Amino acid sequence: MSSTSIDSLLHEKRRFAPDPDFAANAVAGTELYERAADDRLAFWAEQARDLVHWHRPFTETLDWSKAPVARWFGDGELNVAYNCLDRHVLAGHGDRVAIHWEGEPGDTRSLTYAELTVEVKRAANLLASLGVGQGDRVAIYLPVIPEAVIAMLAVARLGAVHSVVFGGFAAESLRARIDDAGAKLVITADGAYRKGKVLPLKPAVDAALAAGETTVEKVLVVRRGENEIDWTAGRDLWWHDEIAPMSDEHDARGFEAENPLFILYTSGTTGKPKGILHTSGGYLTQVAFTHKNVFDLKPESDVYWCTADVGWITGHSYVVYGPLANGATQLLYEGTPDTPHPGRWWELIEKYKVSIFYTAPTAIRSFMKLGREIPQKFDLSSLRLLGSVGEPINPEAWVWYREIIGGGTAPIVDTWWQTETGAIMISALPGITTTKPGAAQVPLPGISVDVLDEEGAHVGKEAGGLLVLTEPWPSMLRGIWGDEQRYKDTYWSKFANTYFAGDGAHLDEDGDVWLLGRVDDVMNISGHRLSTMEIESALVSHELTAEAAVVGAHDDTTGQAVVAFVILKGRLAGTVTPQEASDLLRAHVAEQIGAIARPRQVFVVEELPKTRSGKIMRRLLQDVAEGREVGDTTTLTDTSVIRIISDTMK
Ligand code: WTA
Repeated sequence: MSSTSIDSLLHEKRRFAPDPDFAANAVAGTELYERAADDRLAFWAEQARDLVHWHRPFTETLDWSKAPVARWFGDGELNVAYNCLDRHVLAGHGDRVAIHWEGEPGDTRSLTYAELTVEVKRAANLLASLGVGQGDRVAIYLPVIPEAVIAMLAVARLGAVHSVVFGGFAAESLRARIDDAGAKLVITADGAYRKGKVLPLKPAVDAALAAGETTVEKVLVVRRGENEIDWTAGRDLWWHDEIAPMSDEHDARGFEAENPLFILYTSGTTGKPKGILHTSGGYLTQVAFTHKNVFDLKPESDVYWCTADVGWITGHSYVVYGPLANGATQLLYEGTPDTPHPGRWWELIEKYKVSIFYTAPTAIRSFMKLGREIPQKFDLSSLRLLGSVGEPINPEAWVWYREIIGGGTAPIVDTWWQTETGAIMISALPGITTTKPGAAQVPLPGISVDVLDEEGAHVGKEAGGLLVLTEPWPSMLRGIWGDEQRYKDTYWSKFANTYFAGDGAHLDEDGDVWLLGRVDDVMNISGHRLSTMEIESALVSHELTAEAAVVGAHDDTTGQAVVAFVILKGRLAGTVTPQEASDLLRAHVAEQIGAIARPRQVFVVEELPKTRSGKIMRRLLQDVAEGREVGDTTTLTDTSVIRIISDTMK
């Protein structure tokens, strides 16, 4: 976040007390805080017993003897898919709609809990027939269609491990993730609808698997786009052909609580994405607990909608596992918010009478830009609770969200968490917390948060520092796939026995937490995490580039935008104009990583500012990219560099 926006954030004094009617009917009560404060572990054990069905009950709550790898509910056994499906049917809720799905072109499909259960059982039989069993990794590269949810749950049902790769990632990124996880099966689709067109997906899988030996044996292809695709006989199989003969009987067996559930790759401070590993019992407990209490879920009457793609952690925890574990009815939408018209989301809220809506600040800001007239054309009166996630929400966007989308009454929950935390950690509880626009505010019951200075001392009130988590929590990551040392180094080495989140935070006069953005080289573009190093390595992989530096510069809509500075190779510099070089390199990054990583700007420069020890000074480049006066440059080897760069940009 830029220093000006931090300033305005910390001067925000508006307060919104809970509405008494809402509070009277709220799911969460203050006794949750009391119980958790009284006995944190007993509190989590109660949640685990209350919200999760155990094939074999646990007797042990937390084993922290192998810290920082936790074991939660370690001697218990459960089946995650059974918890999301069968048990609701057995409890008499089989006729409740689990998923109202709408495709971008307007085609629809609704699945009740009974129907979804049958689909997942058949898919589990199919995967088992292809040799998938406990511990095997399955890569899922699908659009937001019901099969994405079905595939994830089928993998979970078998005790196997899914690695969902966001459909916006390009072949190279997909390949790196498939290889790192050693996936034996890939589930994909021919194509997906995006912005009114079919975006092919299968070619990326073909390209990924064409490059050298692979662990992948089969590719299951869901028909969605009906676009022409290449076919590798013996490897590729149509999902609909293969699933047709499958039995709809499948007994879900229990797996131990620490059985791996999924790997999800996220950007860190180095070029190589980290495979964040989550397991079963603790994860399911905390996603179910948070989904129920933070969103005030009344499963009999609510229609819930989280706009995240299933390829991100928000899609895992708050599209798939949280809502389905709680027996919620939800909307799933394939497309973009502005296709075929800019009111598409509001039209969907009106059509499905969505009551709980969870989205990202970047989306809210882009709607603000388009004007309130668009949402005001639709009946949004069904909405009774709004959520925000992915990046700090600026107070103006918060207030607009409440007024224009929430009718001036819907409480907003600003939820702070990470791929690594698995579930929401810091958030208001609706009906209890008096909310402050721009602040995630309070750790949830059972969660221990602190803000420390560089030396590890608590900063006290009205002071800023680094956000940490001081006690293990049920849905915490259990490691980085295949790299335990990196897990320890990244999160547990800065402070002793304390999880370092990588975010800056401020505590206000009440001790409430205001998140201030990343303190490392991780950027947050439209709520998506990208590392500067990852994009720099994509840039230098192009023959034109000699050196590259990337920064996340403030952007009014996307929060941050990727801005790159490159030095061209001497002998090639004369062969292209700076504009051509910039266009080529922007396209190259999109090809290498995916369109989300495409730089907003690529500046061709003569030199990059470096410290005497040769480290690129990203701070200075960020100042330049954000058009600020460049501050102290005394540690630079050559102070003229910045002047030259700024001149180039004019
Ligand atoms: C940022 C997304 C401020 C933060 C769930 C974190 C937030 C990173 C908020 C994780 C919020 C997420 N307020 N910042 N409410 N929510 N962040 O792994 O910088 O994609 O470290 O998980 O997003 O991003 P990730």
